[in-house]
Amino acid sequence: MSAVCNGSQQQHVYLQHHKNRNEVARRRWKILARALQKTCDVDAALTNVDDIISVRRFTTFDLVTSHPVILNNSSSDPVASWFEYTATISQETYSLSIRHPTRSFTAAELMGFNNTGNICVWPSEEVLAYYILCNLQYFSGKTVLELGGGMTCLAGLMVAKYTTAINIHVTDGNISAIDNVQFIVKQNGLGDRVRCSVLQWGDIQTKPVGKHISTYDIILSADCLFFDEARRDLVETIWMMMNEGGTALVMAPRRGQTYEKFAEEAKMRGFYCKSKQYYNEHVWNRHLKLKQSCDYDENIHYPMLLSLRKMYTENSHDN
Ligand SMILES: C[S@@+](CC[C@H](N)C(=O)[O-])C[C@H]1O[C@@H](n2cnc3c(N)ncnc32)[C@H](O)[C@@H]1O
Repeated sequence: MSAVCNGSQQQHVYLQHHKNRNEVARRRWKILARALQKTCDVDAALTNVDDIISVRRFTTFDLVTSHPVILNNSSSDPVASWFEYTATISQETYSLSIRHPTRSFTAAELMGFNNTGNICVWPSEEVLAYYILCNLQYFSGKTVLELGGGMTCLAGLMVAKYTTAINIHVTDGNISAIDNVQFIVKQNGLGDRVRCSVLQWGDIQTKPVGKHISTYDIILSADCLFFDEARRDLVETIWMMMNEGGTALVMAPRRGQTYEKFAEEAKMRGFYCKSKQYYNEHVWNRHLKLKQSCDYDENIHYPMLLSLRKMYTENSHDN
């Protein structure tokens, strides 16, 4: 095809481009509208720069189940519903009280910082939490940071409640998400163990030279790899905030090329990367079963596990 086009062709291309942008905007608004209606069966499957959005019905691997609960002090929190999130592993039950805000987003919130973490708990976060519960010993005595934990930071808070990790810091770039996590931390009596704050990945590079940056042994992140514009910032944040001998456990579906692109970016930064499709028997069995259902699309739903280290070790995180 010729790269040269005349005036009317240019206008056609221009109009087509705007039509596509309008279409993407229209679909984004539809997703947000559904989020406002709290249907939470929406997957903003942003698989590439063009924001391909797919609506789907798959919401959970059912590894962590949720049931509504009425708190004794619920009248003091009229704009939220509370749920008991529970996982059972080898006959042990693990649970957390989790808050779901019921208020609508304001226009400013919708137009502002990324809201994907306020829509629901994404399956990668669920699987990461479950994986943590299957590997509690791994966290003993470790300092732990969660990045992009969304409105529950479920994985980081499971670490806080059920492991002997020290100094757990859960974060997200969205203030509404973090406001919600503050409630959850308090309700579960984790205030002494958990620090909770807004952390935007782009900010790490603009920190004044000499300003102290805390570093951690283990960094967690779930379903945060599909933002093309933030990928490099996320890699840099992990690099800057990881101890020399530390590990990042990053869970995310492939979502087109986005997982691979993140791994490439991480390698270029100097990380040793290990990618696993099979990392837990139960998760894998659930995945195989789900593959028979037409609502399930491995590419956008099955979380891969990527571990990142600064130093090469033969058995880097081989649980
Ligand atoms: C798909 S959500 C995943 C949330 C949560 N981990 C889960 O799986 O339920 C992506 C999260 O990344 C956060 N995020 C996006 N860009 C960010 C940035 N530049 N800095 C910090 N957080 C960011 C969003 O606020 C959102 O909570």
